Amino acid sequence: MTESMKENSSGCVLVTGAGSGIGAATAATLAASGRPVALTGRRLEPLNGVMAAITEAGGHALSIPCDARDQSQMQDAAQHAIATFGPVDILVAAAGVMPVGPMCSADPEDWRDMLETNILGVLHAVHAVLPNMLEQGTGHIVLLGSVAGRTLFPDATVYCATKSAVHVIAEGLRGELTRRRREDGNRIRVTLIAPGAVDTPLPHTISDPQSRAATTAWYEHMDGILVPEDVAETIKWAIEAPEHVSVNEVVVRPSAMIR
Ligand SMILES: NC(=O)c1ccc[n+]([C@@H]2O[C@H](COP(=O)([O-])OP(=O)(O)OC[C@H]3O[C@@H](n4cnc5c(N)ncnc54)[C@H](OP(=O)(O)O)[C@@H]3O)[C@@H](O)[C@H]2O)c1
Repeated sequence: MTESMKENSSGCVLVTGAGSGIGAATAATLAASGRPVALTGRRLEPLNGVMAAITEAGGHALSIPCDARDQSQMQDAAQHAIATFGPVDILVAAAGVMPVGPMCSADPEDWRDMLETNILGVLHAVHAVLPNMLEQGTGHIVLLGSVAGRTLFPDATVYCATKSAVHVIAEGLRGELTRRRREDGNRIRVTLIAPGAVDTPLPHTISDPQSRAATTAWYEHMDGILVPEDVAETIKWAIEAPEHVSVNEVVVRPSAMIR
């Protein structure tokens, strides 16, 4: 991005988990509506693939490899985005892992990964952009929860607990920022997006073979599941609501999904 483009831009989007699935689709959708996007995730290659597609379509994007579990990496990534594109107007915290399985035979490392990525990673991303948003007095924070944050799915207890935590964090953050609004006049909005089944690589990363087979079969046998672009469009709709409208929580399921 050139210096003059940077001056003309009102700010940028920072997406965690931007290399695939919902994060990648949201990055592309928001870039297509003229917003520069900072793409973060652990692996550079998928980020570069998303960046190339955005650039080819005439948008602006930057790959910033970063592990959301590491607070200082997340902080540096946000600073890199701000230095390149200007203030972060929008955070989409999509980084997440789902190594589900029965608690009785679980590897505690899977629990740690879910807790550190799905909860701490979200908090790190919020912490990395919030001072900048408070300084600007404006911003939009979008957190990816899940239907699994409202419904306890069999053999997915810890994943459901992490998503449930994200729902609480979104509501707590919204309340805190709204109370502060009377003192500092900030216009920061918070949206929780809770999707049902979406066709992404997520279920294929489950390490427990039985749980992976059961989850992928459940996705495959549903009469049509969401594609990442469905969720991306929902996020765009929430972001583009008029300033006095705060879309706080959206549950978006495939029409065929019961629970
Ligand atoms: N798919 C669904 O059915 C569904 C339903 C409801 C909610 N969700 C939620 O939606 C979000 C996006 O998931 P998805 O379905 O789009 O899955 P996905 O395609 O697997 O995307 C998750 C992304 O998170 C990144 N990531 C994982 N650990 C990370 C870490 N420590 N630091 C930074 N990035 C990390 C991954 O990239 P790297 O491995 O390169 O880091 C990956 O690109 C997740 O929070 C998930 O819980 C998904």
